[in-house]
Amino acid sequence: MTRRPIMAGNWKMNNLMNDSASLTLGILDGIKDLNESQMPEVIIAPTFTSLALVSRLIKDSSKIALAAQNCHWENSGAYTGEVTVGMLKDLGCKYIIIGHSERRQYFSETDEMINKKAKSILAGGLLPIICCGETLEQRESGVTDEHIASQIRAALSGLSNEEIAKSVIAYEPIWAIGTGKTCDSAEANRVIAMIRNVVKEISDSSTADSIRILYGGSVKPATIEEQMSMSDIDGALIGGASLKADSFNEIITNSMKVAV
Ligand code: PGA
Repeated sequence: MTRRPIMAGNWKMNNLMNDSASLTLGILDGIKDLNESQMPEVIIAPTFTSLALVSRLIKDSSKIALAAQNCHWENSGAYTGEVTVGMLKDLGCKYIIIGHSERRQYFSETDEMINKKAKSILAGGLLPIICCGETLEQRESGVTDEHIASQIRAALSGLSNEEIAKSVIAYEPIWAIGTGKTCDSAEANRVIAMIRNVVKEISDSSTADSIRILYGGSVKPATIEEQMSMSDIDGALIGGASLKADSFNEIITNSMKVAV
């Protein structure tokens, strides 16, 4: 089974509209000569306030897909400050990142909320990028696998195999996010293979073979080749290095040096 790799840029809470526009144009320019059939699926996730603008800038390119960084699970109602899946679809989003560790940590998102979001995203015709990951403390106390497995079981609970197969998971060890310390590629691959096995247990082997599982945490142009050479790593969720067109484009082109 060949899974099409994904290179996804998570811009987090950065960029005014002007910055978003120049970054988007820089990415479009950097990938314009790449052969689409050999390219990974490139996804960018600007803030809500830049989505409409970025959506217009990429509308004529089939090489970039748009993602939002969060959503609410209800379809409408009295939820001041929140945004629905339908609103994000209306703006041209294909994906929505959910369960990022920053949202779990600073906004008290629970596994149950993440599961409701996953269901709402899939029901609305979009695709979730579901994040999971352990803290340094959990890693040091040897509960990494158990913790990640429980996050994944909870996030995917009640989804059909077909829905699971088209979802995306991002394994992001919290201690590697924004720290410049990437997780050793073999270890990231081991955890991702473990996640694939959990997916197989709750669905079946063809679903587990289809779902794309990304690595995230200080991915840089210099690390991506080794990461993409691993059997189970299907791409990357990139924070810091996705904020400059040059480094994001270099990550995309370097990832293509690895035969999939
Ligand atoms: P980073 O962020 O690449 O800056 O470590 C990754 C993420 O949080 O998605």
